[in-house]
Amino acid sequence: MSWVDIGALADIPPQGARVVKTAAGCVAVFRTADDQVFAMDDRCPHKGGPLSEGIVHGASVTCPLHAWVFSLETGMAQGADSGQVATYPARIEGGRILLDATRLARRVAA
Ligand code: FES
Repeated sequence: MSWVDIGALADIPPQGARVVKTAAGCVAVFRTADDQVFAMDDRCPHKGGPLSEGIVHGASVTCPLHAWVFSLETGMAQGADSGQVATYPARIEGGRILLDATRLARRVAA
């Protein structure tokens, strides 16, 4: 894997998110209340809502438009809704957030 530094953990409030522009498009990076980070496409598979503006609860995010709930870990919609958002490996090292650049690049080629 090739990790790319996309900013400090402190730049994202707990239960918040920020958008990272990559060659693959906009990726939403979420921080949970217990300081885990997750990255997924910033586009809801329902009607394209900006997931980065959704509500983070536990390891899930609720889309701001029609309240579909997605697992931050798998990108799968929960409950009766169906759909999946592409997720990307993310980790924290020394207070910095790292994303797997290999996976982001692969998406461009796909
Ligand atoms: S656009 Fe996300 S639930 Fe409708």
